[in-house]
Amino acid sequence: MSEPVTDLSAAAGAPSGRRQILVTSALPYANGQIHIGHLVEYIQTDIWVRALRMHGHEVYYVGADDTHGTPVMLRAEQEGLTPKALIDRVWQEHKADMDAFGISFDNYYTTDSEENRVLSESVYLALKEAGLIDAREIEQAYDPVKNMFLPDRFIKGECPKCGAKDQYGDSCEVCGSTYQPTDLVNPYSVVSGATPVRKTSTHYFFRLSDPRCENFLRGWVEGLAQPEATNKMREWLGAPGEAKLADWDISRDAPYFGFEIPGAPGKYFYVWLDAPVGYYASFSNLAQRLGLDFDAWVKAGSAAEQYHFIGKDILYFHTLFWPAMLEFSGHRTPTNVFAHGFLTVDGAKMSKSRGTFITAKSYIDTGLNPEWLRYYYAAKLNSTMEDIDLSLEDFQARVNSDLVGKYINIASRAAGFLIKRFEGRVQDSAMQHPLLGTLRAAIPQIAANYEAREYSRALRHTMELADAVNAYVDGAKPWEQAKDPANAAALHETCSVSLEAFRLLSLALKPVLPGLVAGVETFLSIAPLTWADVGVPLSSQQPINAYKHLMTRVEPKQIEALLEANRSSLAPTEGSAASATAAANGGKAATSAAARPAKAGKNAPADETSDVISIDDFAKIDLRVALIVDCRTVEGSDKLLQLTLDVGEDKPRNVFSGIRSAYKPEDLVGKLTVMVANLAPRKMKFGLSEGMVLAASAADEKAEPGLYVLEPHSGAKPGMRVR
Ligand code: MSP
Ligand code: ZN
Repeated sequence: MSEPVTDLSAAAGAPSGRRQILVTSALPYANGQIHIGHLVEYIQTDIWVRALRMHGHEVYYVGADDTHGTPVMLRAEQEGLTPKALIDRVWQEHKADMDAFGISFDNYYTTDSEENRVLSESVYLALKEAGLIDAREIEQAYDPVKNMFLPDRFIKGECPKCGAKDQYGDSCEVCGSTYQPTDLVNPYSVVSGATPVRKTSTHYFFRLSDPRCENFLRGWVEGLAQPEATNKMREWLGAPGEAKLADWDISRDAPYFGFEIPGAPGKYFYVWLDAPVGYYASFSNLAQRLGLDFDAWVKAGSAAEQYHFIGKDILYFHTLFWPAMLEFSGHRTPTNVFAHGFLTVDGAKMSKSRGTFITAKSYIDTGLNPEWLRYYYAAKLNSTMEDIDLSLEDFQARVNSDLVGKYINIASRAAGFLIKRFEGRVQDSAMQHPLLGTLRAAIPQIAANYEAREYSRALRHTMELADAVNAYVDGAKPWEQAKDPANAAALHETCSVSLEAFRLLSLALKPVLPGLVAGVETFLSIAPLTWADVGVPLSSQQPINAYKHLMTRVEPKQIEALLEANRSSLAPTEGSAASATAAANGGKAATSAAARPAKAGKNAPADETSDVISIDDFAKIDLRVALIVDCRTVEGSDKLLQLTLDVGEDKPRNVFSGIRSAYKPEDLVGKLTVMVANLAPRKMKFGLSEGMVLAASAADEKAEPGLYVLEPHSGAKPGMRVR
């Protein structure tokens, strides 16, 4: 039943000594909401931190909002706020989200703090002292109206290939071609609409290309835990002598929301310089409050451990710049950096139109239990950088069948008899039952798998144990034992064994489900569980409390409500499809015209109030040629046909279409048509509809009946884009 663990050296039980451990998660930007993608990381880190605290180690988990940079500055301006007012508001929102999901930061701070200013300056000055800072003139795009330099993503123009308007400086969303910002035809600043000019200015560089940095990093990389990360690093470092590392531009010109560089008026630290220093600033703030020796933790030679959890997209910053900054400014370097993959929902990138761009707040506000998501992510997470998929169907199945069906059930089955027949007291001799021995032996392995970030393995193991406990109860049949008073001792044993088993399973699940297990501790009338409690069984001396329901099942309608909440926060232009007759998909598109996320510029290209749409509005609709491979009537509906469509993907799409009045199934099989491929899937009474086929009809369908499914000219192939 148990599986090998990669590293048992740090296994549960008595730790060889009390370790000092500083842990961070990446700091979320202060210009957006926390979403379920971010939560992969905060939940992953939190589980790890809790598992290590349960050994009794001295663990500090710190975070902060990443507040500086151009996007925050411009966003504040649009909202008519000072940057400070904006970041204060966002901090409150982020903090509330973190708390709601049980993310147990010892300190949640901000990078816009005095501690961070002081630390960032001192790191910079130490690097300068070490001869690792250079000043250089560089030429950049400049907005002559707004008087500011423009980061690439603040320049738009016409695509040099297809002429599509309002394309970003790197690639065209309409034709897909890539190019340089300077290739754009009629470029304009997204901030003011002005035509950018070229302008030179002095910038400061961290000389990562210096052989000292390269040599240091070559050594440091070998200690990384993840082979994928080491390989990436080797690629970035190149072969010895290749000198592949480029210097890093760490300054930005005013106007910029950030810290001014000492001795360089009008120059600011680039946000990515002060952001990782923000880890230390948050910890420094905490250390001050707790009276810890901050320097002993962070200066070179520190005996503490330091770990950073991040997404794979920001590996470069954490495995090159950050360790080099630390090394050459007299600090200790990270013990390890743990990168995770990206979240997809039902196999695709999170999408606003599908309603799968799910904010933490909407999840809570819709009334879903945050521990369901913690459990699901944990069941999927391992120590690699592989992406993880949130399948909404699987989410319900796992929570309902594993968590509620296998685990919670054990308690509800045992508690009733124990309270009613045995004054809530366990039978002490039952604590020696061999089944419990198996569970107790498994706990250190499970604890070690948490530490090795193999959460899915830890949970699989735990659920196998739950299966064994359920099999034991099914075999003993307490409901039969209860019928005959002569079997009282046997019934007492069954309930006692299963309740102690429940306590051990709760211990195994505690890092993942802290709220639930706090409820279990109250129910069992025991002190907060730590790994050492594996050897402290329930006792007849301490009667349990009445069982109160510990967790409910996920209802399908809650998932629908969640998707709907995230769809309806979109403006119609993003949610609704083409104006061609919506022949299917229930005919319902996102309706609410509620606040559209503010556009980056004042002269937002398309006029949002007119009926005219811009080419990029049109480009949002993914129209595809589809082959109708199967078509059937739908039992119970006289309006719908069920189509199976091949759109060149791995799996065919299932679409319900309201065209039964006009077509017999056999008329359509083998024909090509056109479908909207990126319409939010819609759950209908008969199943999931995964798109919409296009059909023509008169404005008033009643007055002039007739429906005509679109069909491309012959030669078109399934999957081709229509544009
Ligand atoms: N502000 C920087 C980090 C600075 S750390 C000194 C940043 N912020 S972020 O808000 O874009 O992302 C914060 C973290 O969330 C990153 O580690 C990022 O990889 C992670 N994720 C953001 N979207 C994600 C998914 N869709 N899936 C998984 N993780 C995601 O980067
Ligand atoms: Zn183009």
